[in-house]
Amino acid sequence: MPTSSGLFPRNFKKTFPIASRGEGCWIMDRSGHRFLDASGQAAVVSIGHGVPEIGRAMAEQSSQIAFAHTSQFHTAPAEKLAERLLAVAPPNFRNGGRVYFTSGGSEATETAIKLARQFHLESGRKDCYRVLSRRQSYHGSTLGAMSVSGNVARRAPYEPLLPEWGHIAPCFCYHCPFEKTFPQCELVCADDLEVHLLEHEPEKAAAFIFEPVVGATLGAAVPPEGYTARIAEICHRNGILLIADEVMSGMGRTGKPFAARHWGIEPDMILVGKGVASGYAPLGAVLVSARVVAAFEHGSGAFMHGFTYQAHPLSTAAGNAVLNYLETHKLFDQVNTAGQNLRSALTPLLAHSNVGDVRGLGLLLGIEFVKDKTRREPFPREQNIAEKICQACLDENVLTYPTQGCVDGLRGDHILLAPPFTISPEECALIGRALQSAVARVFSA
Ligand SMILES: Cc1ncc(COP(=O)(O)O)c(C=O)c1O
Repeated sequence: MPTSSGLFPRNFKKTFPIASRGEGCWIMDRSGHRFLDASGQAAVVSIGHGVPEIGRAMAEQSSQIAFAHTSQFHTAPAEKLAERLLAVAPPNFRNGGRVYFTSGGSEATETAIKLARQFHLESGRKDCYRVLSRRQSYHGSTLGAMSVSGNVARRAPYEPLLPEWGHIAPCFCYHCPFEKTFPQCELVCADDLEVHLLEHEPEKAAAFIFEPVVGATLGAAVPPEGYTARIAEICHRNGILLIADEVMSGMGRTGKPFAARHWGIEPDMILVGKGVASGYAPLGAVLVSARVVAAFEHGSGAFMHGFTYQAHPLSTAAGNAVLNYLETHKLFDQVNTAGQNLRSALTPLLAHSNVGDVRGLGLLLGIEFVKDKTRREPFPREQNIAEKICQACLDENVLTYPTQGCVDGLRGDHILLAPPFTISPEECALIGRALQSAVARVFSA
């Protein structure tokens, strides 16, 4: 880290190369060093780096109108992108659904929390405000989003600032919190929502937020068949809104436009971010279903919320250009094949005694490292295994996304892989080889 830097870094103890160019699945730093972006920069980049059409579309929009405040104007790119997102959402978003654009995922979570609260106010239920969520979850780093998150380490310093609205068990078969096995478990983790509702002032519950496929905190944990439908049914029966946080799993990452569509559920809101503009501009959104919109339309008529940069013309122009690229190059359809290629390249890792699990859906994959494979026992947190694997991959010029805490919020090491949808079979093989070598070096040390 140059001491002359004016940039407040994420970590003062680390050195950060200066990224200067991107091309496809590769990032080049200022000294010409090339890195294979196996994590899509935290599951953001879907169409690959350096696609010139996106910048051209943003420049064109900027030459027409770069900014107009949403209290006075709507703009054509925002209107168009809203229509296109609703068209790929579940049926309950058609005929009256709307999109609230933000500048990222955390703002989308904040917006959804407030939408849920005001939805109930509009409907005459003034006591409803609590948004329930799951332990070991992540929904963003602003205070409202952190309140509904269950990421122990990230919450710890800010605990006095965070209200507790209720967290239920995660759905995580590899380390089942109830020590059961599917299907004999009868989805006790889904029923935990109902148990919690019954035991904790159900009249105050407004919504439940969850990631259909859990990205960062559990390393691409996919729910077993029936879980998502049971959760939707419990929410519906108890009159609380279902919010699907698809900031990571949405926009094609798991092989469907939204992961919720794998299970045919109809959430009341869907959050997107990351892939919605593939990193070309800061953009997030809340897709709001027709039923929720109607409560506002027929109620007070105004949502008490707003950001200066919501529905920004350049960001939404980038979103449209990214969607054009995904459609023209049929990239949504490529995710499953590319995901299978990457999974095949990772499968040999399972022969190693410290590689516990390779999991995920489409191009959202996770690899978990364990001390004892038979007992699925994690390493002590202090050993920092996920970070060591990430560093060892970096020595092979491959970028991964390490996280700790999947077992109990603190212990449990995994890395996430979420490359651009354009990843080639050769690049998948390269990632597999880099990981083999990283695993061999970290665990022989
Ligand atoms: C599921 C999920 N929700 C919300 C967020 C927050 O998004 P952002 O970092 O764009 O604010 C993230 C970021 O990693 C995420 O993975």
